[in-house]
Amino acid sequence: MAQWKAIIWLLIYCIISCCSLSSTEETHPTGYPSIIEFPSNSSAILGDEVILRCTAVGDPAPKIIWHERDTGRLSRRGRVHEIAPNGSLVFSEVDGDQEGWYRCSAKNSLGIVHSPYVKLTVFEPAHITDYPSGYRVDKGANVKLTCVATGNPLPTILWLQDGHQLPNSTWKEEVIRGHLAAHDFYSQSVLTVSLQETTHFSCVARNDLVDRVHETIKNFTVTVDQPEIRAGGMKTLTPPEGYCAPYNGQVCKAKLNGTGLVWYNISYDNTGGWLNEQITGGLWKELIMTLEEPCRSAAEVVLCHYAFPSCQMQKGYPVGLPLCREDCMAVRDLFCYNEWLLIEEEKKVGRVLQTRGHFRMPRCEDLPTYLRPQNVPEDTPWEAPCSHAMLTVMRPELVTTNFVPTGMNIPRELLEEFSAGNV
Ligand SMILES: *[C@@H]1O[C@H](CO)[C@@H](O)[C@H](O)[C@H]1NC(C)=O
Ligand SMILES: *[C@@H]1O[C@H](CO)[C@@H](O)[C@H](O)[C@H]1NC(C)=O
Ligand SMILES: *[C@@H]1O[C@H](CO)[C@@H](O)[C@H](O)[C@H]1NC(C)=O
Ligand SMILES: *[C@@H]1O[C@H](CO)[C@@H](O)[C@H](O)[C@H]1NC(C)=O
Ligand SMILES: *[C@@H]1O[C@H](CO)[C@@H](O)[C@H](O)[C@H]1NC(C)=O
Ligand SMILES: *[C@@H]1O[C@H](CO)[C@@H](O)[C@H](O)[C@H]1NC(C)=O
Repeated sequence: MAQWKAIIWLLIYCIISCCSLSSTEETHPTGYPSIIEFPSNSSAILGDEVILRCTAVGDPAPKIIWHERDTGRLSRRGRVHEIAPNGSLVFSEVDGDQEGWYRCSAKNSLGIVHSPYVKLTVFEPAHITDYPSGYRVDKGANVKLTCVATGNPLPTILWLQDGHQLPNSTWKEEVIRGHLAAHDFYSQSVLTVSLQETTHFSCVARNDLVDRVHETIKNFTVTVDQPEIRAGGMKTLTPPEGYCAPYNGQVCKAKLNGTGLVWYNISYDNTGGWLNEQITGGLWKELIMTLEEPCRSAAEVVLCHYAFPSCQMQKGYPVGLPLCREDCMAVRDLFCYNEWLLIEEEKKVGRVLQTRGHFRMPRCEDLPTYLRPQNVPEDTPWEAPCSHAMLTVMRPELVTTNFVPTGMNIPRELLEEFSAGNV
């Protein structure tokens, strides 16, 4: 017992003496580093150059080191930053990732001193990422219009109808937590209206930047189908199955580049493709990201053509075209042979993709071909009756020959096209 007491007293003595030792060091020796210009809280707009200053004196001349509170010490030169010879931390073009708390430290052989942490805020102008590109609705029916915007600070969204601002009671705005183009949060506004005639709308997103208000606007039209009055006085509605519009989402932007108008089925939802956009985004994370190349790229492009089919006018109505049989087979039998089997197997044991919504894997054999029928002469104009993802004219170097399992039932013309490298 007495031994323990002695040890504890010894410890207490040590702690006291150590503390008093360090407190005597508060009076620094000459030459000890000292910061004479401190960094200050700073705000910048995305893409701006930002300089956080730090000047120190001491003998020997101190070295300046920078830390970010969460990520730690900064290297002398990074992707977008550099510690200048004069000690300043220079960001050539800030993006959202650089927002944070920074401090500088001055160090020489005698010791080190730190500045307080200062905040670097990076403002990002409001950007509308999704809006209804167009609609067809029945006269008098309720229609929900959704507009989504990102930015820092989070933008507020307002709506105009035929150029006049609508009262804010007509829409519902929410902050959504979810990943959208490198953002953890975004603003979503849903406007519900009932229309008697074709109307022009604008969705406006606004946020306050350092010294000004930034505003961005997207315009679109909602077409109202007027009921036909038949001779007998009976009204019949022409069923608005869907409409054609440019693709205005994010997920399939690269994959649908150059395909022209896409078709939006309004039987499921009338939100300008927002539902399909969300399902596609979900499948992207749940399925596509897990696939290996070349299956991954092929699956991406086919999924996008399935969710946002090409548009064609048939008998005066816009229709969405199904996938082409050749693209479907190319994915099933060529690019994603093993993966497809795996999905079929999962399906058999009742496991389905969580995020698939109303999407279903097609039976390739049921789909139309993009090949011109033999009875249509070469010189007459002819449009394929399907959304052609052009997988069979994909760059042949993407497909390795050892990838094709032997004994597979691949249509001969498909393989010929591949080996011919029809680009
Ligand atoms: C920087 O901003 C924070 C709050 O955001 C404040 O507490 C701090 O005092 C500011 N620092 C300077 C040097 O102005
Ligand atoms: C330090 O160097 C940077 C980059 O060379 C320059 O932009 C900045 O003005 C300098 N700061 C001071 C305080 O001299
Ligand atoms: C959108 O509509 C607003 C108001 O109706 C109009 O002032 C603006 O010029 C339009 N912008 C574009 C790009 O069409
Ligand atoms: C609607 O606008 C009014 C005045 O412009 C404002 O006082 C009110 O807070 C707003 N309501 C909502 C829900 O944003
Ligand atoms: C779409 O294609 C054009 C020309 O082929 C190209 O300039 C543009 O960057 C592409 N856009 C996207 C989003 O890939
Ligand atoms: C549009 O969606 C409806 C679901 O209500 C479906 O029955 C119909 O087949 C779809 N049309 C096309 C061309 O995909």
